[in-house]
Amino acid sequence: MHLTILTGASRGLGLALTAQLLAAGQRVLAISRHAPEIEVPAGAELVCWTADLAEAAPVAAQLALWLAAQDANAIESATLINNAGVITPPAPLADTAAGDLVNAIRVGLEAPLLLSAAFLQATAGWACPRKLLLVSSGLGRRGMAGATAYCAAKAGMDNLARALALEEAARPQGAGVVSLAPGVIDTDMQLQLRGADPARFAEQKNFAALKAGGRLDTPEQAAAKLLRYLARPDFGAEPMADVRGTP
Ligand SMILES: NC(=O)c1ccc[n+]([C@@H]2O[C@H](COP(=O)([O-])OP(=O)(O)OC[C@H]3O[C@@H](n4cnc5c(N)ncnc54)[C@H](OP(=O)(O)O)[C@@H]3O)[C@@H](O)[C@H]2O)c1
Repeated sequence: MHLTILTGASRGLGLALTAQLLAAGQRVLAISRHAPEIEVPAGAELVCWTADLAEAAPVAAQLALWLAAQDANAIESATLINNAGVITPPAPLADTAAGDLVNAIRVGLEAPLLLSAAFLQATAGWACPRKLLLVSSGLGRRGMAGATAYCAAKAGMDNLARALALEEAARPQGAGVVSLAPGVIDTDMQLQLRGADPARFAEQKNFAALKAGGRLDTPEQAAAKLLRYLARPDFGAEPMADVRGTP
């Protein structure tokens, strides 16, 4: 049985990933504040934890215990996909509420850091291949005014992947680690960007144009690209990647 732990499973890219993983007969542990509303096909298994990843430490501790209780011999592969992410209401940093900034960093960077640590520690002795995917963004690799906390979280995630990949490469059966930009996807996050006040967010018109021009992937298309990337035999050879321009 293939096991995937996935954050942000209730909507958008995460919901499409959950559906496709279940359709492939996987066992999925889904973590978000709301449970994904989804049919579970025969042969697959969905375990849902409703948790706020702005408070990730207890969730990471629970994950370590849950993994320790699994029968590792029955698991053919173990994957953690850190997919949950949030943008603050688009506006300059100085006009953004402190609580929104804290939430964006906690969900977008602190949670992946803690969950990754728990996953790697709890599965260190497992014989199966282990993969750790961080869902990043082009905005981890370039700046965008109006999204400073998001850009900072994704850049942090990218360099987390680079450093962690070095650690895992030095271990006999280290996990593959990749921070992957998933392209531009028609989800609530895009709605938030193109629905923003153009007076506070100069890029609003560009996001509106992406939608008007039909240039967004559906969540299903993006999920399929991401799962294709995860299945590559050379997964982890390069810790930074972008689904755009990858076969
Ligand atoms: N959409 C794009 O164009 C795009 C582009 C580049 C990168 N990405 C990245 O792709 C990933 C998925 O994005 P998306 O567009 O699918 O976003 P989305 O539609 O806004 O969904 C975000 C997911 O994160 C979860 N989440 C948010 N806050 C949470 C919290 N405090 N605790 C637990 N879970 C939380 C949400 O679940 P609950 O609300 O149930 O908690 C939801 O399932 C993100 O990392 C995003 O940065 C997206």
